Amino acid sequence: MPSETLLIYLLITSANQFTFVLGFGEATVDSISLTKTGFLRGIMCIAAWIWQSHPAHQLLLFLNRDEYHDRATEAVGWWGEGNKKILGGRDVKGGGTWLGCTKDGRVAFLTNAREPESIPDARTRGVLPLRFLESTKSPHEFAEEIVQEADYYNGFNLILADLCSKTMVYVSNRPKGESVSVQTVPPGLHVLSNAQLDTPWPKAQRLHDNFSHLLKKHGDEEVTAEEVIEKLMMDKTKADMDELPITGCDPDWEFNLSSIFVETDTKRGRYGTRSTAAFSAKVNGEVTFYERYLERGMWKEHKIQYQMENGTKA
Ligand SMILES: *[C@@H]1O[C@H](CO)[C@@H](O)[C@H](O)[C@H]1NC(C)=O
Ligand SMILES: *[C@@H]1O[C@H](CO)[C@@H](O)[C@H](O)[C@H]1NC(C)=O
Ligand SMILES: *[C@@H]1O[C@H](CO)[C@@H](O)[C@H](O)[C@H]1NC(C)=O
Repeated sequence: MPSETLLIYLLITSANQFTFVLGFGEATVDSISLTKTGFLRGIMCIAAWIWQSHPAHQLLLFLNRDEYHDRATEAVGWWGEGNKKILGGRDVKGGGTWLGCTKDGRVAFLTNAREPESIPDARTRGVLPLRFLESTKSPHEFAEEIVQEADYYNGFNLILADLCSKTMVYVSNRPKGESVSVQTVPPGLHVLSNAQLDTPWPKAQRLHDNFSHLLKKHGDEEVTAEEVIEKLMMDKTKADMDELPITGCDPDWEFNLSSIFVETDTKRGRYGTRSTAAFSAKVNGEVTFYERYLERGMWKEHKIQYQMENGTKA
């Protein structure tokens, strides 16, 4: 295939998920990978959560979703035509979600692995959380299903949780070339950005430390979403140039993404954090899903609450 044809082919087949911003140089169809001359911008996220280690919250999660401001997205709400209703945001273009939950206590969220290369015709990663939420499989069973098909996706980090059985599992098809990792997430405070679980990238480390500090200050009291969002999730402090993670992407772009709250201009339009979610599941089964999100240039917020139904038989 001539390179021009290939370039167009790549742009079309990848339009679902990514926008490639630089020239590609040589690319081979056989290996369906791009050389390091190109890098992509897609959905980036950062999440921090405490799992089964707080007296009031079973799970307390905060997540910033970064995207082009003009990418069609539906704010958090109930949706789904399957046998189960899902509460989550919706990526209209890709058809999936980055964070969702169900009434029977399933929670799933996803971040991409930041890397300069990608499979152009990969499957949409956003369907992974969705499929788990719709299924009746345990987090471990579902993770094993994903292991079989992990090569069809670009780099992802997936968290699957079942609040009723108190299990949380992490699945990732990165680092490349290594076997797919499936690990039980132990109780405690965790952070996930666009690398492996708990990788101390400067912003992940900062969020971890600040969250931990804020939790200590509150002691056994409930933590309010608004406070954490305002103090921690809207932090625009960037990392020092010499501390940036080495992902193979342009250091200038890496620098722009190095804050917890991202806000940057690109040739393709404004890019950055456009949704901050706070998900709380209390030990009494009360679930609160709060979202602060950008809609047509305006910041809005909403809060959805429900009582969890425990499907686990005694
Ligand atoms: C977050 O951590 C940084 C680095 O330790 C500190 O300078 C900053 O004040 C902290 N922010 C909050 C809100 O705790
Ligand atoms: C980084 O952000 C600045 C300010 O928004 C912008 O001018 C620059 O083009 C960005 N760099 C890249 C590589 O996106
Ligand atoms: C759900 O029910 C099972 C069995 O009765 C129990 O062990 C578990 O603690 C319950 N989970 C929650 C979150 O209430």
